[in-house]
Amino acid sequence: MQKQTLLYTGKAKSVYTTEDADHLILVFRDDASAFNGEKIAQLDRKGKVNNRFNAFIMDKLAQAGIETHFEKLLTPNEVLVKKLDMIPVECVIRNYAAGSLCRRLGVEEGKELTPPTFELFFKDDALGDPMVNESQAIALGWANAEQLEQMKKLTYQVNDVLKALFLDGDMLLVDFKLEFGVFHNRIVLGDEFSPDGCRLWDKNTKKKLDKDRFRQGLGDVVEAYEEVAQRLGIDLSDI
Ligand code: ADP
Ligand code: TMP
Repeated sequence: MQKQTLLYTGKAKSVYTTEDADHLILVFRDDASAFNGEKIAQLDRKGKVNNRFNAFIMDKLAQAGIETHFEKLLTPNEVLVKKLDMIPVECVIRNYAAGSLCRRLGVEEGKELTPPTFELFFKDDALGDPMVNESQAIALGWANAEQLEQMKKLTYQVNDVLKALFLDGDMLLVDFKLEFGVFHNRIVLGDEFSPDGCRLWDKNTKKKLDKDRFRQGLGDVVEAYEEVAQRLGIDLSDI
């Protein structure tokens, strides 16, 4: 499958059409951005590491019965995916308090959240991805009630699968963001799961192994992503 027209250039990936109307090619770039595009950098190897990482996670989720857009890796930084009609709502689950939850509610970082929280954000860079609720998402026509229910159920299922997977590598899945879309009337998991869109801490030392290293200027960002991959048994030796 070949790339045809560039459809969209996002903050970290570029999206191309293919000769098949049902498929797209995503190109994972080395660009990193934070604080709604205020902080940007090029991080050598990030695109390839995240593409390989995402493929591994999508495969684990498929094995658990969760339908994803992933079809196959094409090159070290390109993946073939089903073309989804994306729902502009980001689903976030938090197992421990961090990031915007701490800022919003004055909660101490690291507080365990039982049960895990589920939040929705409107995917809109110009507005800074504001938090929204289900009735707003329905009233504004982004998704219907049944779709939102399905997205929530799937996000909790992903949490169960991935919490256990990361714990096997002595890591805590602190929080993560998922994006879904519609494919032939079904809700399907899209976009990516990588350390760019989640928080992962070493279980014992609480060392941050995710994009907070970039946000907070802690250094060794891609090195940390590679450490996570290595702990999960993902082979990066050929990229
Ligand atoms: P952003 O748009 O947040 O800057 P990216 O740089 O990751 O994000 O760009 C990838 C874009 O592709 C996102 O807008 C995402 O919603 C979209 N996307 C991801 N997977 C699919 C898919 N399977 N079908 C259609 N669009 C997708
Ligand atoms: P937050 O603490 O900034 O609200 O983010 C919660 C988690 O979701 C964190 O792992 C980062 C991820 N996330 C994104 O990757 N992109 C987004 O636009 C949002 C809102 C969250």
